[in-house]
Amino acid sequence: MHLLIPAAGSGRRMGSDRNKLLLVVRSKPIIAWTLLAAEAASQISWIGIISQPLDWQDFQTILTQLKQSSPVELIPGGSTRQESVYNGLQALPDSAKEVLIHDGARCLATPDLFNSCAQAIQHCPGLIAAVPVKDTIKVVDENGIIQSTPDRRQLWAAQTPQGFDVKLLKQCHTEGVRQGWEVTDDAALFEKCGFPVRVVEGEETNLKLTTPQDLAIAEFILKTRLG
Ligand code: CTP
Ligand code: MG
Repeated sequence: MHLLIPAAGSGRRMGSDRNKLLLVVRSKPIIAWTLLAAEAASQISWIGIISQPLDWQDFQTILTQLKQSSPVELIPGGSTRQESVYNGLQALPDSAKEVLIHDGARCLATPDLFNSCAQAIQHCPGLIAAVPVKDTIKVVDENGIIQSTPDRRQLWAAQTPQGFDVKLLKQCHTEGVRQGWEVTDDAALFEKCGFPVRVVEGEETNLKLTTPQDLAIAEFILKTRLG
């Protein structure tokens, strides 16, 4: 299974002056944890890291230290996540019929989650890892007034990995560019094009490291896991 890792962000909400994926958590850069988990998943045989050329030297150093056994390619990122994934799709080898996409910032996803997504994508054209939401979610207007309270039983928090049929996802990205759709994950493009996306059970610990508090939580989870 081919895996694309969007890793070309700037980490604005982290308040960091460099790509947040280069910040260190429990003695390793965030991206190194993501790569270690992906590498440990038996189903993953090729990895493309989508990243800004500015960071390539740092990424290359990390890759050398990890001694990855799967082939890893560096692919230039875009100015949005959507553009980055678009670039990644163009860089996939022709042999890739399905692809998993996993945010570099979700460094706590386990190898089992990669493997279960890789298996599930053989049976449906689109899927995402997700977990049922625990909070009651409100739809709020620009004046701060609640418009509605969706039934929580139908609400899931989207994670990555997300998996797709490559040909269909390329079509959806092209349509997204044509229509000017701005989305925050690939499933949204798939949905907007009318293709079904299945949810597979994600992991509560599969956080997207976004703010400084998330670094402390990740540190704690890794400590609990690895001692
Ligand atoms: N990403 C990307 N290309 C971009 C923007 C984001 O590949 N132009 C990647 C990030 O590196 C991250 C994932 O998409 O792994 C999810 O994005 P997010 O958590 O929003 O990371 P950043 O965009 O770096 O953070 P922020 O939005 O706070 O600036
Ligand atoms: Mg972002």
